Amino acid sequence: MEEKIQKLTSSALTQINQAQNKIQLEDLRIQHLGKKGDLTSVLKSLTQLPIEQRKKIGKLVNLAKQEIITAFERKEKTFEVEKAAWIDVTAPGVKLQIGHLHPVTAAISEIVPIFERIGFTRTSYPEVELDYYAFEALNMPKDHPARDEWETFYITNDIVLTPHTSSGQVREMEKGKLPIRMLNIAKCYRRQSDVSHTPMFHQFEGLLVDRYVSIANLKGVLDYFVKAFFGPSRKSRIRPFHFRFTEPSFEVDVTCGVCDGVGCRLCKQGWLELGGAGMVHPKVLEFGKIDPTIWSGFAFGWGVERAYMMKESLKIDDIRILYENDMRFLEQF
Ligand code: PHE
Repeated sequence: MEEKIQKLTSSALTQINQAQNKIQLEDLRIQHLGKKGDLTSVLKSLTQLPIEQRKKIGKLVNLAKQEIITAFERKEKTFEVEKAAWIDVTAPGVKLQIGHLHPVTAAISEIVPIFERIGFTRTSYPEVELDYYAFEALNMPKDHPARDEWETFYITNDIVLTPHTSSGQVREMEKGKLPIRMLNIAKCYRRQSDVSHTPMFHQFEGLLVDRYVSIANLKGVLDYFVKAFFGPSRKSRIRPFHFRFTEPSFEVDVTCGVCDGVGCRLCKQGWLELGGAGMVHPKVLEFGKIDPTIWSGFAFGWGVERAYMMKESLKIDDIRILYENDMRFLEQF
């Protein structure tokens, strides 16, 4: 008898502990403590026992009952606590933090489709590049002073961190497919770090090689891009310049978005400089195994960070902040 009571008690206690909700708990209460419950039936069966034993067992049953009741009460309380922690579906929601693209990534994803629309295909080339593609094949032999303008990180004598996207020009030509309309957007590296330079920055480079390509075609593509990217009221101009890999060479300017070309604090003269361009030098075509008597082309290479700032008419005091991952800055875009 005693053993039976003990078994009943311990199984009741485990069941109570495992109850998942109030309904289950109530079922258990009926099963164990109810009028027809198992403990009650033990009590009932006592009538057949001699008085001494009846007293002893009766006491045990009552103790067991008490223990079970306490367990019920304790379990019930845990449900109360859980209920208090339930979600109030009528309360206003917590706003999720939604991120956005880094301004440079955003600019790239705007630039690419603009050029895709006129047939340029995006390509990519190594960031760790052979000196040959970065300089030699662009008509800048070893020790040529023109190289000084690209303050280059050398990894070995023959390997550099690409200082401009122009390194992709001869690589593209070497694919041997003509005509070419390539758009190469990539990270570039130069040994410069000051308020207007970061040692890593981005350029987007266009290369078009076809028959009878003229400066007018270059100017047309340039105008198209400037209006599509900066806005229909912006104008572009080309100024004579010098690069070893283009002839003639130009620098490209865009009217300032603040003053519309009149001149203001941001631009001073009304124009902002976008980057370089020119007609592909015959020697570069030859390096790319293309016959310059049949084919001609133009190329341009412009800075993504610069273009973005010009578009938004931003004058950032120190552009290194673009790469400091400071959320207070980045969240403004
Ligand atoms: N690679 C040049 C630079 O980094 C830009 C350029 C590209 C000029 C293509 C002419 C043609 O300054």
